[in-house]
Amino acid sequence: MARYEVEGKVAFVTGGGSGIGAAVSRVLAASGASVVVADISLGAAEMVAHDIENAGGKVMAVQVDVADPDAVDRVVQGIAGILGGLDIGINNAGVTGGGGLAGDYDTAAWRHVMSINLDGVFYCQRAEIQAMLAAGRGGAIVNLASVLGAVGAGRSPGYVAGKHAVVGLTKSAAIGHAVDGIRVNSVGPGYIDTALLSAIPPERMAELAKLHPLGRLGRAEEVAELVAWLASDAASFATGAYYPIDGGYLAV
Ligand SMILES: NC(=O)c1ccc[n+]([C@@H]2O[C@H](COP(=O)([O-])OP(=O)(O)OC[C@H]3O[C@@H](n4cnc5c(N)ncnc54)[C@H](O)[C@@H]3O)[C@@H](O)[C@H]2O)c1
Repeated sequence: MARYEVEGKVAFVTGGGSGIGAAVSRVLAASGASVVVADISLGAAEMVAHDIENAGGKVMAVQVDVADPDAVDRVVQGIAGILGGLDIGINNAGVTGGGGLAGDYDTAAWRHVMSINLDGVFYCQRAEIQAMLAAGRGGAIVNLASVLGAVGAGRSPGYVAGKHAVVGLTKSAAIGHAVDGIRVNSVGPGYIDTALLSAIPPERMAELAKLHPLGRLGRAEEVAELVAWLASDAASFATGAYYPIDGGYLAV
């Protein structure tokens, strides 16, 4: 694991209790950031925080539902108050939204996936920007999109629409807040071997692996390296962009 220029910074990671968010929390903490692991499952966040603490990192676990704007505001203001501002926001919490063709996709499924994958990113990003403006020292935000923020998939209309929208929301925030020294980027992982894919049958997993020229699924840690770099001062000229990390998925 590489070390990144985030020493002494305060980082808020949503969906930090599992998969990519947990890996990002670990690499930021190992690089010297104070990390807030936020998840709808407090138990999951606490387990990741416990590991980080045992490894000597500065960390706290909090419960938040990113689909609840008031809760998001309370939590982000609270941690900025306790930890002395906010420097890094990683908006990573997400769900698959289930499968279905656009012609018969369920309204409740649509609302659910949008409320977390798009509204949740909007609420968290807004609260993070406000905390960064209040601290007056700029900041860096990374929003988790997907390869499905750049291309489609026939049976995931909600997920695909939400991830494309995250790429647009990222660009708008980056342009509007560049003057404030706040950088905002999105990341587009290919299929990554995490709990998010747990409902996919093994034979389908093998097919998914073949969609990547590298011939396998990615690992959460491989995505975390890119996210941590974007969050760090080494990425000082990177803003408003979408960065695939996909084993070649989008090159085909
Ligand atoms: N795994 C992949 O193949 C893949 C590919 C591309 C993009 N992504 C994106 O990366 C992000 C992380 O995915 P992952 O694979 O690590 O998933 P994961 O299921 O391992 O972890 C997601 C975490 O988000 C939390 N969460 C869910 N709903 C929440 C809510 N309302 N409020 C707060 N926390 C909530 C879950 O409890 C879980 O801990 C997601 O945005 C996902 O869409 C994943």
